[in-house]
Amino acid sequence: MGLARSTILWVADNRRLREHLPRYRFVRRSVARFMPGESLDDALEAARRLGDRGLPTMFTALGENVNDLSEARSVKEHYLEVFDRIAAAGLDTEVSVKPTHLGLDLDRETTLANLEELAAKAAEHDNWLWLDMESAPYVDGTLELYGKLRSGQPNVGICLQAYLKRTARDLDDLMPLDPTIRLVKGAYREPDEIVFRSRAAISEAYRRLALLILARKGQVGRLALGTHDVDLIRTIEADLGGHDGFEVHMLYGIRQNDLLRMTAGGVKARSLIAYGTYWYPWFMRRIAENPTKNILLALRNLVARG
Ligand code: FDA
Repeated sequence: MGLARSTILWVADNRRLREHLPRYRFVRRSVARFMPGESLDDALEAARRLGDRGLPTMFTALGENVNDLSEARSVKEHYLEVFDRIAAAGLDTEVSVKPTHLGLDLDRETTLANLEELAAKAAEHDNWLWLDMESAPYVDGTLELYGKLRSGQPNVGICLQAYLKRTARDLDDLMPLDPTIRLVKGAYREPDEIVFRSRAAISEAYRRLALLILARKGQVGRLALGTHDVDLIRTIEADLGGHDGFEVHMLYGIRQNDLLRMTAGGVKARSLIAYGTYWYPWFMRRIAENPTKNILLALRNLVARG
């Protein structure tokens, strides 16, 4: 892992900095690049604007690792409302959640019950529920939750990380379920032994996994390439001889023009909009993905007046 990336991911995990940095104006200004605002209304408004330009969206309420189950219940209640608000607004917007936001650190059965309720609500609105993939200690638990959810309902997706060496094996177990998968490179600070390190190795793992999923995909399952790496998307497209069979999902504020261009060219695409007040660790992972560009941007915000 590059020194800059690992240092930023360390800063993301550091409790003192996590408490202090968000108070600085330049940090708050920098985060605005990646989110339209902190409230659900801000996210709905952004989804409406992107929808008007032909781009469907996905919402995630920022938060992770809740400390008690009542907090997890509030998060579930919030997402139930989110599905209703999306439907009432007539938006093509799906929802993605972090399992630890719904209690995975505390109790698996309760987490599953929370997720089942959300998946049922998604089905009621003909919508989809996705599970994000968090750091390595949560992979087994998340896969287990997904297996149970998917055996009950088709409209659920899971994120898999190409940088994890185990992912090819996990796919073997998942494919009989006809899963819906968002494939990403992976955003966390992980031990050397369990991940591919070089950019080339991660991209190659990503390409192989994408092709494997497409070769074995069933009737229901979808594949979303969750990446801003347009060259990698083009390579996969060339391997396949077209863009049928996969979607492209990107994060709000990153390479949006590329995504809009793809949509115009017939690629199914979606922009993931994050919102909420607990943005710090999520924001630091975004900075770590492109340290040079994002640190320069933050410095510009630091010196800017107003
Ligand atoms: P890469 O980092 O190579 O970026 C390609 C190009 O995109 C860069 O050269 C740059 O131009 C631009 N770019 C990428 N990131 C940028 C940034 N932060 N700021 C500015 N420019 C940037 N991870 C995870 O572990 N679990 C998850 O559940 C998810 N979920 C998820 C959903 C979606 C829709 C996306 C797009 C990504 C995720 N991720 C994730 C994050 C993912 O693992 C990965 O860290 C980022 O997507 C960055 O990697 P890229 O594939 O974009 O390639």
